[in-house]
Amino acid sequence: MSAVTVGIDAIAFHGPGAYVEMAALAEARGVDPAKYVRGIGQRQMAVATPCDDTVTLATEAGRKALEAFGVDPASIGTLVVGTETGVDHSKPCAVYVHELLGLPTACRTFETKHACFGAMAGLTTAMDWILSGRANGRKALIIASDIARYGLRTAGEPTQGAGAVAMVISANPRLVELDPVLSGDYTRQVMDFWRPLYSKYAQVDGHYSIDCYLDAFSGCWEDLRERAGERVAELDITALDACLYHVPFTKMAKKAHHRHWEVQLGRPVAREDPEVAQITASQAERVQPWLSLNERVGNIYTGSVFLALLDYLRRLDPEREGRAFSLFSYGSGCGAALQLARTVPGAASFAAQLDPTPDLDARKELTVEAYEALCEACERADENGTELADPARWEVGGTLCYTGTVDHRRQYTRVD
Ligand code: HMG
Repeated sequence: MSAVTVGIDAIAFHGPGAYVEMAALAEARGVDPAKYVRGIGQRQMAVATPCDDTVTLATEAGRKALEAFGVDPASIGTLVVGTETGVDHSKPCAVYVHELLGLPTACRTFETKHACFGAMAGLTTAMDWILSGRANGRKALIIASDIARYGLRTAGEPTQGAGAVAMVISANPRLVELDPVLSGDYTRQVMDFWRPLYSKYAQVDGHYSIDCYLDAFSGCWEDLRERAGERVAELDITALDACLYHVPFTKMAKKAHHRHWEVQLGRPVAREDPEVAQITASQAERVQPWLSLNERVGNIYTGSVFLALLDYLRRLDPEREGRAFSLFSYGSGCGAALQLARTVPGAASFAAQLDPTPDLDARKELTVEAYEALCEACERADENGTELADPARWEVGGTLCYTGTVDHRRQYTRVD
């Protein structure tokens, strides 16, 4: 690592106040609940109301990160919102968030889009901004915010979700140091998942998208190995305390870890091969323990790998502080990055600030009928002049709400 360390100084999650149980959704769809709960690996799925949008989720996550870690909004010199579910073809979500958080006008503010990879692109851009000296002591706020929608009764339906993760990136961070050398990139034009301009719902070639994800992991790992040079031993999985992957559904992270071992071993590992026991034990040690938040929220696209990171950090044992871990972000279409990082001594002392479970526990459980009604209302909530985004109608309170589009302008109100 270089003398100046750069990384994550604060992090927080914010999601909608409602969810549906995956077992209940499976029953309503005539599917064995074990498929959703064990096969896909999801327990619950966050459900956005028409009053939640990418801006409200991002702003609330940003507010929580700044407040919980005592970061002065005046110290923010770059704001990036990574999203693939923006609210306007031209105007970035980031500029609404900038106003709602009261950030300084002397701030570079923009939105990044590359499916689920957008926030990781923002994070590494922020690292470069600080390392180049342009930040001049200021910090960057990077927010991953999305609402994942495939539509009712589609194969993708159990892999929906909604939420945002906000991170403050700074020199001499309190939580995580990002390695400026040990990272690998990958880009390839593929049609695995996309959302045409005319549609609110993603088009997806589900099983192909899994292959594209795994191929992108292999590509990143090869690039990382080439860049590592004499530090190649640091890439060994057994040297890593945790392996955090993009989590469209938690089973996918386990598939990614299997591929991680395959690229390290330099050959495929089949079910009957002796290495399977070692890989299974490694999954149990380095992957599974940090998926409990993703299991309860679902796919949040750009933020999902950072939700796994939050889970890892909130459970950090002081004895494991300073150990290295990997972060893999995959965005369909496709672009990906594999980044090595390590926790900072003292990071475990922030466990209370890092724990989003009280908010998750306070969410309202929806019946499948109520979930379907919300999805249908969300389809038209962005239209000009509708009254669908009414907080009283959806019993939303205690948070920032989108309250509709009036005279073609989006309206935001804090509801108590
Ligand atoms: P599917 O065809 O409904 O499910 O699609 P399946 O038949 O593949 O079964 C899923 C798993 O459940 C399998 O496990 C089954 O064996 C198991 P696996 O073999 O894979 O380990 N299963 C059962 N287990 C226990 N009891 C049972 C049972 N039945 C089956 N009774 C799919 C699943 C994920 C493809 C679908 O939901 C989908 O299309 N989702 C959206 C696409 C997606 O999430 N792709 C992931 C990779 S791409 C990515 O991550 C990028 C993304 O986030 C977008 C972006 O970048 O912006 C999506």
